[in-house]
Amino acid sequence: MTTQSLKNNVNIQDFDGSGTQVPVYHPDTVAVRGGVKTTEEGEHSDAVFLTSSFMFPSAEAASGVFQHGMPGNVYSRFSNPTVKAFERRLAALEGGEACVATASGMAACTLLVMTALAAGDHVVAGKTMFGSTITLFTKIFKKFSVDVTLVEVGDTEAWRAAIRPETKLLFVESPTNPCIDLADIKALAAMAHDNGALLAVDNCFCSPVLQRPLELGADVVMHSATKYLDGQGRAVGGALVGSQAFVGEQVQTLQRSLGFTMGAFDAWIFQKGLETLPIRVAKHCENANALAAWLEQHPKVKSVNHPSLPSHKQHELAKQQQSDFGGVLAFELAGGREAAWAVIDATQLLSRTANLGDVRTTITHPATTTHGRLSDEDRAQAGINEGMIRLSVGLEHIEDIKADLDRGLSAL
Ligand SMILES: Cc1ncc(COP(=O)(O)O)c(C=O)c1O
Repeated sequence: MTTQSLKNNVNIQDFDGSGTQVPVYHPDTVAVRGGVKTTEEGEHSDAVFLTSSFMFPSAEAASGVFQHGMPGNVYSRFSNPTVKAFERRLAALEGGEACVATASGMAACTLLVMTALAAGDHVVAGKTMFGSTITLFTKIFKKFSVDVTLVEVGDTEAWRAAIRPETKLLFVESPTNPCIDLADIKALAAMAHDNGALLAVDNCFCSPVLQRPLELGADVVMHSATKYLDGQGRAVGGALVGSQAFVGEQVQTLQRSLGFTMGAFDAWIFQKGLETLPIRVAKHCENANALAAWLEQHPKVKSVNHPSLPSHKQHELAKQQQSDFGGVLAFELAGGREAAWAVIDATQLLSRTANLGDVRTTITHPATTTHGRLSDEDRAQAGINEGMIRLSVGLEHIEDIKADLDRGLSAL
């Protein structure tokens, strides 16, 4: 399967911020042109509005915007034209009506929970997730009397069994970090709606190029823009995409008060990142698919987790709900932490860093980095063992990546 970024046409809402509806464009076109509102200066590249507040021609005009809901910018915690341009482009790519950009992926997750839930509500979430997301749900939100049940990501019946009358949110990463498990998004969406709950999907590993959860029935898409949306490891940011009623109004209203705002310059970086997203993701997938197949036959590797492999337990599901298999994979070594660290330390080209979605291949040991602060019990529950290494496969030549990993594996 090759990346088919033109597979789904995007019905663009408010393509250029003028409020007019424009005809359907392909995602590759939306990625480079969506959301742009050119100023009277006629700039071709997007302008950056580095300003904290905005001026009004008169006191009456100020009152109109502040008090009477007239359109206009007030203050960059509320809205900023550069941030809005990024929000419009990402909303169009995800096929959502509205997007709210945030200071980080974790800020997006917190904003989602604070908007959708109140004390006494219950969340069902996947057992395997990014470490800070697990901490947020199992420790931090519990302080505010929001209860959580964690279930096996791929076990749809376990999700159903965990739902209670007070369940208001199903939250899932698919594929998960770092185990690369998938959830059946369509089935979870139907289940959430049957029970009056929302389904939110962290679409960080796929990006809208490979998977569009809203089309599969999800209510909200969450992003860490820090990953593929930027793609070059430059800035930290996040976003929520969904309906105008939920994201455009409820989330947006709370965002103004909480102030989890994305800065204008970061929004500009992400906007530029989106322009190359389809071609980058296609190449990430090509390299990751080749590397997964190569690692799986390597005599020093115990197992490989990547949905491109027929051995992956959700290979068929991946073919249905994604247009390619993604750039992140995990592999396991028999020798536990000692072996994993030896391999990582013997590589010379790959970056020993925990970020992912970068043009540079990154290598990390989840048990002692991204999930290092979890208790042993929580880490085991998240499916992470000491022999696991996670790779975010970059855009270097595949033979150079293989040669470096081979060098690493030779240390065993
Ligand atoms: C799947 C996933 N979701 C969310 C986050 C959090 O994003 P951020 O670091 O931008 O807050 C990460 C970070 O690694 C992640 O991998």
